[in-house]
Amino acid sequence: MPGVYQLSVDEAVKEAVAAAGDGLGGVLLFGLPETKDDRGSAADDPTAPVQTAVQAIKQATSDLVVMTDVCLCAHTSHGHCGIVDGNEIVNDATVARLVDVARSHAEAGADVVAPSDMMDGRVGAIRTDLDATGYEQVAIMSYAAKYCSAFYGPFREAADSSPRFGDRRTHQMDPANVDEALREAALDLDEGADIVMVKPALPCLDVIQAVKKGLGCPTAAYQVSGEYAMLKAAAAQGWLDEPRAVLESLTAIRRAGADLIITYFARHAATLIH
Ligand code: PBG
Ligand code: ZN
Repeated sequence: MPGVYQLSVDEAVKEAVAAAGDGLGGVLLFGLPETKDDRGSAADDPTAPVQTAVQAIKQATSDLVVMTDVCLCAHTSHGHCGIVDGNEIVNDATVARLVDVARSHAEAGADVVAPSDMMDGRVGAIRTDLDATGYEQVAIMSYAAKYCSAFYGPFREAADSSPRFGDRRTHQMDPANVDEALREAALDLDEGADIVMVKPALPCLDVIQAVKKGLGCPTAAYQVSGEYAMLKAAAAQGWLDEPRAVLESLTAIRRAGADLIITYFARHAATLIH
């Protein structure tokens, strides 16, 4: 897809510095390791791409909030977000792994860790561990209302993180359910989340608004890969005016109540706004 690349660490640093130059507030890093195994060992390897990139970006610029995605799916050979036993993802064993991953990101210098797995109790477990290990200043942005969505397809291809069997319906949310989104977000806040995220964004504008109005907390929205793909594909065909469509969709997400937007259009949008 145009504008979507797997970056080496040195390329990621260049991209981050350029993003800061565009006036962006932060970056969110995802890792793709060279080798995968059933427990996602590379995810908390201090020499892995995310940990190395966090350190290098922090050295290169102090103008960016550096956030990291905390999950196992790009690191496991089976492509699931956690530790698998038979056909099941084992919640507590997964949470223990996620705690190690989040700590390794904090040790590398991440400002914000963002667990995207949707296991139960992971925010509290990560918070407790970070507080106990001297990282109480590291914030948690939880993927709180993460729907089981068709719009993650292009990301999974880029991150080579599709489940090799089954799907993510056991832990990601049913798009028909909005009450659950509020319950999940409230739980994550209780456990110590600093920011809660709704994802995807445009198909969930009502959820963004319900979370922001109902809970009054810092609310992030993630305009995901499939949303990007839709606009990009239509623009490439000459069917949409890309800059206008990009700004209109981001405005809608903001209007719904998002304080913070994660989007693959970030650098493009920054040049349109500034
Ligand atoms: C990992 C993760 C996913 C996305 C962000 N973190 C994929 C998934 O849940 O399968 C999707 C992002 C996007 O589509 O842009 N759990
Ligand atoms: Zn995952």
